[in-house]
Amino acid sequence: MDFLTLAKERYSVRKFSPKSIEKAKLDLVLKAGQLAPTACNLQPQRILVINSETALSKLDQCTPWRFGAPAALLVCYDKTVCWHRRFDDKASGEIDASIVTTQMMMEAANIGLTTTWVMMFDPEKIAKTFNLPDNFIPVALLVIGYAADDVVPNQLHEQRLAIDNTVFYNDFADYSL
Ligand SMILES: Cc1cc2nc3c(=O)[nH]c(=O)nc-3n(C[C@H](O)[C@H](O)[C@H](O)COP(=O)(O)O)c2cc1C
Repeated sequence: MDFLTLAKERYSVRKFSPKSIEKAKLDLVLKAGQLAPTACNLQPQRILVINSETALSKLDQCTPWRFGAPAALLVCYDKTVCWHRRFDDKASGEIDASIVTTQMMMEAANIGLTTTWVMMFDPEKIAKTFNLPDNFIPVALLVIGYAADDVVPNQLHEQRLAIDNTVFYNDFADYSL
């Protein structure tokens, strides 16, 4: 499948089959994260694979949005490792972690798995529950697995702004925004 078709056909799945993910497929998804670009190639991502019964039930106390997935990838970054822009000290960690998450999400779709990117979790609770080191900042939870048989895309999936609402050329002064 070409990339734009994959990007169009991928959608957030919020009802999973209990079928577990084959180790080889999980490894491919994690590989896609490893291959992601990061600022200055510092690779500050730290990914916790949550797939044991015990860990999944602990996760359920941090978010109601697991949707029955048999696994979740908690994507964090190490704030002592990520790059900082010298002009304003902006840190790259959230961006790096988001690119890693996106690549894993797309590879999952590429190999027939489904996901939802979940931001709706209590970061303090998740840090405490999973014993994150103080310098690890959780950014994204990618719930992952096989879709339940009766899943259809949410209506939001079809709703993308017209491209000229989001893309501009050369100078914003040329537009009335
Ligand atoms: C940064 C981010 C945070 C999100 N957080 C949640 C979430 O907490 N719960 C949820 O159900 N979906 C969440 N989503 C999924 C979006 O709602 C979904 O991607 C969007 O509505 C477009 O639908 P589609 O993914 O089916 O194309 C999140 C997506 C992103 C990129």
